Amino acid sequence: MFDYNLIENTDISGEAPECEPARQYYFMKKCRLWAQEEEKRMGRKLTLSMQTMGCQMNARDSEKLEAILTYIGYETGEETVADFVLYNTCTVRENANLKVYGRLGYMKNQKRKNPQMKIAMCGCMMQEPTVVEKIKKSYSFVDMIFGTHNVYKLAEILYTQIESERMVIDIWQEAKGVVEDLPSVRKYSFKAGVNIMYGCNNFCSYCIVPYVRGRERSREPEEILREIRNLVADGVIEIMLLGQNVNSYGKTLEQPMTFAELLREVEKIEGLERIRFMTSHPKDLSDELIQAMSESKKVCTHLHLPLQSGSTDILQKMNRRYTKEDYLGLVDRIKEKMPNISLTTDLIVGFPGETEEDFLETLDVVKKVRYESVYSFIYSKRTGTPAAAMENQVPEDVVKDRFNRLLQTIQSISHEITDSKVGEVVDVLMEEVNDHDESLITGRLSSNAVVHCKGDENLIGKICQVKLTESKGFYFMGEIVQ
Ligand code: SAH
Ligand code: SF4
Ligand code: F3S
Repeated sequence: MFDYNLIENTDISGEAPECEPARQYYFMKKCRLWAQEEEKRMGRKLTLSMQTMGCQMNARDSEKLEAILTYIGYETGEETVADFVLYNTCTVRENANLKVYGRLGYMKNQKRKNPQMKIAMCGCMMQEPTVVEKIKKSYSFVDMIFGTHNVYKLAEILYTQIESERMVIDIWQEAKGVVEDLPSVRKYSFKAGVNIMYGCNNFCSYCIVPYVRGRERSREPEEILREIRNLVADGVIEIMLLGQNVNSYGKTLEQPMTFAELLREVEKIEGLERIRFMTSHPKDLSDELIQAMSESKKVCTHLHLPLQSGSTDILQKMNRRYTKEDYLGLVDRIKEKMPNISLTTDLIVGFPGETEEDFLETLDVVKKVRYESVYSFIYSKRTGTPAAAMENQVPEDVVKDRFNRLLQTIQSISHEITDSKVGEVVDVLMEEVNDHDESLITGRLSSNAVVHCKGDENLIGKICQVKLTESKGFYFMGEIVQ
């Protein structure tokens, strides 16, 4: 995949080059030499612990970060004693933040015991100035802080820290273009996430993502296709196209292109078997895309279509730019073309001003659409977003009660859907040996549902035909038939 000779052949005798990615190759090589000296000094390999706390986009960034650190010479180790501890943070809801401070509190002592330990913080939470201030003040033992726009600069940041022996903070308010041609690791050999766009322009009124991920930027289609072709040549058969709102892909390109057009190009790549994508904003989901999906042999029978609320009033306050009826109409058009589609969604309970009637509208949509699974969240106030300043924040006990009622409805529907599939024979991509029972192998249906079957690790990365023998509510037990 990535040609490491590009780094090896870099001349590091002079000043660092100005242009990217050459500049980063220079710092990666410098850091690697430093790490080799450290290894000699300590008589052992350097170790790394990475915590990825956010969404798929966050996880994809972690793969790039890990590749840089692996090249430098770090090997996976224990969080509490590692030489490099990296927290790739999320800030979408407040509890994500609280978790980070909890971890840092604990790591203070660990670092005291292991003074060579370097602690780095990155990801969405670091894009908030108040967070960086708090870390500077209360967690001054942190060595590096960087954000979402300069992940690729990790080696340079590390090198600066080594040289200065001080806390290095490097946060950009906006991205400065997309840097290609950097190394990356992959968690799985047979499936991979591919960024097609970064950032978000939607400014849903509850959401902090546009503030921490910046404006929407699409990658050039040639770059995306080249990356996928390389992945496929390397054994990948399933890809997940990633973006906060993939349906608006290509609008900002010099030569605009729609997401449906991109999908059709990806479809042509020989050897690729499955295509998934995340996430679709309902307001931008075009009939052209529905058509492209329904004609495709590779796009999975799964669509994640975040609803957030079923009440048109609340949707308007959320700045989602569709009504309850728009959404239901869209779902009808999707189901008409793809009767087999498995729909999943995100819901927020307790948005400011949400009344019992509004909540019942959400339940109504849930019952009409019949989602196979739902991610439901209790509204979390994010400072700086318009919703945080709204009046009529809903009392906690009311929210909890609604949340529980919602969960019950969702559960009974998804159980019914899962039960109804027992007996079917379906294609399953085998992903991993079961954590709890080594005689079982776990895979995913095209619908994204999980199934466990008798089998061994030789099946990992293969698509098998599986008879679904039993429903366990959210997942299946099955038998490999072929
Ligand atoms: N871009 C994606 C969502 C990214 S965030 C999309 O638009 O679908 C993932 C989910 O977190 C959102 O869909 C929403 O349901 C939830 N979320 C975002 N901000 C939230 C907040 N302030 N409180 C509770 N849930 C929130
Ligand atoms: Fe947040 Fe809305 Fe953008 Fe999704 S589309 S990331 S919910 S602002
Ligand atoms: Fe969290 Fe950032 Fe993703 S806030 S959900 S990690 S884009």
